Amino acid sequence: TPITSPDLSKCTTGTNLNTQQPIDENCCPPQSTQIIDYKLPRVDKMRFRPAAHLAGKEYFAKFEKAIALMKALPPDDPRNFMQQANVHCAYCNLTYPQTGDTKLKLQIHNCWHFYPWHRWYLYFYERILGKLIDDPTFGLPFWNWDNPDGMVMPQEFVRKESPLFNGRRNQQHLPPAATDLAYSAQSPTNPKKIIPNNLTIMYSEMVRNGSKLEDFYGAKYVTGTEPSPGPGSVERGSHIALHGWVGEATPSGMDMGNLYSTGRDPLFFSHHANVDRLWTIWRGLRESKPKDFPDFDWLNADFLFYDENARLVRVKVVDTLDNEKMGYIYQDVDLPWLKNRP
Ligand code: C2O
Repeated sequence: TPITSPDLSKCTTGTNLNTQQPIDENCCPPQSTQIIDYKLPRVDKMRFRPAAHLAGKEYFAKFEKAIALMKALPPDDPRNFMQQANVHCAYCNLTYPQTGDTKLKLQIHNCWHFYPWHRWYLYFYERILGKLIDDPTFGLPFWNWDNPDGMVMPQEFVRKESPLFNGRRNQQHLPPAATDLAYSAQSPTNPKKIIPNNLTIMYSEMVRNGSKLEDFYGAKYVTGTEPSPGPGSVERGSHIALHGWVGEATPSGMDMGNLYSTGRDPLFFSHHANVDRLWTIWRGLRESKPKDFPDFDWLNADFLFYDENARLVRVKVVDTLDNEKMGYIYQDVDLPWLKNRP
């Protein structure tokens, strides 16, 4: 049977997965008496997700305003900035028992739900922001770290006065440091090699190491599976490397380098917008090869989120397969790694 939505009333203190200690803050969401089965709304206007380094001043002024408004919502409003950050913690840091096998904990990383779950997470985050600035076309900016032009922390996130700023980042990695998709604190990459190395990594993750669906998506995860059966190529590689690269150089790696605190850094959502975009690109590269698991257990897994109207909604994996049906598209940019066959 597929993974089904957690019972919010069973949420408990989570585990800090970097230190294996209990988290001393509560990241459980507010409760709601009603759960609505979510139907994708008809798409009247497409939302446009621009590359952060190309988006420009006017766009960022809107985005900053939206984030500031989100921070200003009452702390118990499920759309509030910290509440939204906690959504990530609750689904990743073993706070919920698995519905259907309560001996086990729910964890949506390191498995085949990585892409669909994060797609929903960003989807509602974006709709909340768009609603706060009354712009139904608002789309999140993506951090284009697979392209040399985007291989640096986007400037707008680094300005101290900006609501996009976060103080808990590795200060060695502020611009102009090149984003290292092979980053590991133990074995630093030769700075001169970072960019060519990044392109090789992208090619491997997106083209070479993806013959089976699991190789790209991650391993099967159903009711009764232990948490973290295995990540896909991007999740394991560039994605997690950049989390660690952005976060503080401490064992807990806050904020970005730790799954419980990562949603507190607005850069998280641009990082994941790029991961989400890579999913769409990967599907395009598959041409006639299968793009999705046909399994009932994948397609019918469901999760809970609060939508832009603060309603608790139940969403399914099957509705995430086409971003255009979800009402957003990505700016088209060059894919230099595609020519980077090692
Ligand atoms: Cu939910 Cu990049 O992790």
